[in-house]
Amino acid sequence: MSSKVERHVLFNRHEIEAAVRRLAAEITEDFRHKNPLLLGVLRGSFVFLADLIRLLDFPLEVDFIGLSSYGSGTQTSGKIKVTKKLETPVPGRHVLIVEDIVDTGLTTAFLQKYLIRRKPASVKLCALADKPSRRQVPVNIDYLGFTVPDRFLIGYGLDANQKFRNLPDICSLEAEE
Ligand code: IMP
Repeated sequence: MSSKVERHVLFNRHEIEAAVRRLAAEITEDFRHKNPLLLGVLRGSFVFLADLIRLLDFPLEVDFIGLSSYGSGTQTSGKIKVTKKLETPVPGRHVLIVEDIVDTGLTTAFLQKYLIRRKPASVKLCALADKPSRRQVPVNIDYLGFTVPDRFLIGYGLDANQKFRNLPDICSLEAEE
């Protein structure tokens, strides 16, 4: 039996742009006087974060943390590894985590605990996409772009085996007979 993998556009670049604008408006309302630290989770969030911050017209700082839950392939290993440390001191800061996608929730739950130990003033979460059907631990998303079905997504920063991050649309990978 042979199967090939097809891509389908789930959200095109215009839909993504509209979602990012909506999120930027919500974040502006809540953070414009707080000099927040936007914390991008590498690698998947870098495209989203780059678009988002250019719509935020108030003082803010950006840092990154590298977290990895997937080895290769499309299944989570369940283990979270810090692949790049956060460099900005967190005590007293209003931290806004910027994630590409919340899937099992394990990565986000790990990061929230990691930050809370460092005594921030507050921690909130902005995620481009949420796959609630796959959740293993509860995660509260404060600013959400899209709720997505249980499919493997690529594009707009999301990868499959480190490929496809450069696609401008969010696509799903589907195996076809
Ligand atoms: P979680 O720990 O299972 O919530 O997974 C979080 C991370 O897994 C995300 O930040 C992504 O980097 C990656 N991930 C989860 N689902 C997908 C997907 O559909 N496509 C690409 N990466 C994904």
